[in-house]
Amino acid sequence: MTSLITTPFTAESTAAEVVDGVDLAGRRVIVTGGASGIGIETARALAGAGAEVTLAVRNIRAGERTAEDIIATTGNKQVLVAPLDLADQASVASFAAAWGGPLHILVNNAGLMASPEMRTPEGWEMQFATNHLGHFALATGLHRALAAAVGARVVSVSSSAHLRSPVVFSDIHFRQRAYEPWAAYGQSKTANVLFAVEATRRWAGDGITANALMPGGIRTNLQRYVTDAELDRIWKTPEQGAATSVLVATSPLLEGVGGRYFEDCNEAGPNQPGTRRGVAAYALDPEAAARLWQVSVQTLA
Ligand SMILES: NC(=O)c1ccc[n+]([C@@H]2O[C@H](COP(=O)([O-])OP(=O)(O)OC[C@H]3O[C@@H](n4cnc5c(N)ncnc54)[C@H](OP(=O)(O)O)[C@@H]3O)[C@@H](O)[C@H]2O)c1
Repeated sequence: MTSLITTPFTAESTAAEVVDGVDLAGRRVIVTGGASGIGIETARALAGAGAEVTLAVRNIRAGERTAEDIIATTGNKQVLVAPLDLADQASVASFAAAWGGPLHILVNNAGLMASPEMRTPEGWEMQFATNHLGHFALATGLHRALAAAVGARVVSVSSSAHLRSPVVFSDIHFRQRAYEPWAAYGQSKTANVLFAVEATRRWAGDGITANALMPGGIRTNLQRYVTDAELDRIWKTPEQGAATSVLVATSPLLEGVGGRYFEDCNEAGPNQPGTRRGVAAYALDPEAAARLWQVSVQTLA
């Protein structure tokens, strides 16, 4: 058992504090869902450290407004906007095809939570399609750009909601079982962790590592489908919520580290039953990770 990575940062740390002293000049970054919630503050902190940041968003107007705001607050003019709908495979493919040159940091941040039952035109359950399959297609489509960066990092924004469900390989898309919004969200967030495990196993030789994280509880548009009563949590500010993503994306303490799960700016230990902290063994299981990769390739083929 390797020891857990610890940092000087905590649940209260902000994205700006975490990246303080890190120079990202010359680094190129993509943040999916970068025009809302913690994506905005993730993008702002990375731009503030000097990176070129592309906001990959489905609402271009919101993206442009966010880019203007980030440019104004950081003074970094290299904040770009590009269209990306993760639930639309043609959109993901054209985004990846349009990308030229190296990609140093890919933050797979966009997400949909506890939505009513919705399906893509292919019939895929929408949370799995958006949160996992879309990001899987994006990362694999950008693999060459990541490899070209030498030392690239992929950040997989998961959630403690992964504790609600493993990936149910026998019925990922809720065709036999009754649809349950939280089970679907939990399954997709477990997939985000498993992706980091298998991407690191496959791509470490290309200098690419991937880690997953729980940002904390942050009031954002994410809760559009849920009531306060369904949520029992301590709220962080968006700046605090972005801190663990930014840590995973940039911290020198994570050099060469991959396939792990972080929360509150530190690597998380195993979940203790009855708690909402830590990582489920099923989410770090290398066999499930390899299986999910294969299933994802087959699904997208
Ligand atoms: N907030 C929390 O308490 C919390 C807790 C645990 C984990 N997380 C995770 O943190 C990440 C960010 O969440 P947030 O709280 O910042 O939520 P948010 O404010 O709702 O932002 C999510 C972003 O994802 C985008 N998105 C949704 N579906 C998309 C699609 N098909 N294609 C492209 N973009 C899409 C949204 O775009 P639109 O604006 O166009 O809808 C939005 O920009 C998510 O992965 C979430 O699961 C959040």
